[in-house]
Amino acid sequence: MRCTVFGTGYLGATHAACMAELGHEVLGVDIDPGKVAKLSGGEVPFYEPGLADVLRRNIDAGRLQFTTSYVDAAAFADLHFLGVGTPQKKGEYAADLRHVYSVIDTLAPLLDRPAVIVGKSTVPVGTAAELGSRARELAPAADEVEVAWNPEFLREGFAVEDTLRPDRLVLGVDRARSGRAEVLVRELYADLIADEVPFLLTDLPTAELVKVSANAFLATKISFINAISEVCEATGADVTALADALGYDARIGRRFLNAGLGFGGGCLPKDIRAFMARAGELGANQALTFLREVDSINMRRRTKMVELGTRAVGGSLLGANIAVLGAAFKPESDDVRDSPALNVAGMMQLHGAVVSVYDPKALDNSRRLFPTLNYATSVAEACAGADAVLLATEWDEFRSLRPADLEGHVRARAIVDGRNCLDADEWTAAGWSYRGLGRG
Ligand code: UGA
Repeated sequence: MRCTVFGTGYLGATHAACMAELGHEVLGVDIDPGKVAKLSGGEVPFYEPGLADVLRRNIDAGRLQFTTSYVDAAAFADLHFLGVGTPQKKGEYAADLRHVYSVIDTLAPLLDRPAVIVGKSTVPVGTAAELGSRARELAPAADEVEVAWNPEFLREGFAVEDTLRPDRLVLGVDRARSGRAEVLVRELYADLIADEVPFLLTDLPTAELVKVSANAFLATKISFINAISEVCEATGADVTALADALGYDARIGRRFLNAGLGFGGGCLPKDIRAFMARAGELGANQALTFLREVDSINMRRRTKMVELGTRAVGGSLLGANIAVLGAAFKPESDDVRDSPALNVAGMMQLHGAVVSVYDPKALDNSRRLFPTLNYATSVAEACAGADAVLLATEWDEFRSLRPADLEGHVRARAIVDGRNCLDADEWTAAGWSYRGLGRG
């Protein structure tokens, strides 16, 4: 089959490459000529394990191309995916939909044959129906244009795996239309459906809501354990042992119960806020007020980490050398959008510390966002002369650190484990002062 993918960020680039991997002919479209040039040359403009291989293999096979031309895209296929970003609006909780609208406003006037546009971006409920009406108004093919919604659940760091072996496929369709969207999408995903990936057909608002509800649930699960973590801190209990014990209950499950610095990134934080904003617009704001609490529990963890770091150096950060291990919002990613790690590093510096940050992949992005922090190119360099070491992102390189690896570099043996990923007993036995979030 042939399809296009508008937007070549994490979502779009991965979707384009993976659809080609399924054997389809794909044209990725982006307004940024720099991104298009990189991708056309087989280079992924961000860190995502395994994606470059899939990209190159399919470019070489002639199944995958990239362009900035909407005219070429409209001529290329009758199935168009929309995977542009929907960031948080400046100064507001609501999602900024300008990129989504811009794709529709530019593409629709070029649609002179029956076409299906399938949205993958995370949007406020109601957007898909509105985009459908708008596209039909603008397109020469008018009523022959259908908008459907196929939310994306991929995780950064596992993007290829999540796209080729998803937990489920959800497709929201406009029941007033011909049903062409369902036929085309089922055909496109035929291999996945044959592999018994559940395919759920819904109406448009349900599909839009599935996605935001999933992210709201995950955020709530993380903030739940982080709230319990605060109680653990007040009583001397250990939240990691508690989470292990809770996790054995199959109804609860152990995943997403890792207490620590909490969630960040380009999705969970902005999605729960956009969800609250949309519920407010719909007159259902009371239903989601708990998400405000979820958000503030999450933010409190960052402040708590700064407190633990301050205590580790004796109560004042003025003149203290602090090593921060990790800058990405999570391991296996170079994404620093709303990164708890960088936030903590920035706050420590604000309080007078000399902060040295190291991350295996996210240094370039961090420098762009926080140019005033000091960046090191190795753990040893970041820890040179440190009065305390803060572990902020649980990269394998940091999880596997042994106390002996840091001795000889640090000035004082103090470590704060913001991701509860080190063996507290091992560090304590080696003479370190170990602090973890929610660990007594
Ligand atoms: C999230 C969802 O997991 C995906 O299903 C969704 O498609 C995606 O958002 C999106 O909307 O595009 P992602 O942002 O890549 O994916 O990252 P997650 O793996 O969900 O982690 C989010 C944050 O939660 C990270 O900062 C992570 O460190 C934190 N986290 C995760 C915890 O603090 N504790 C946990 O137990 C798990």
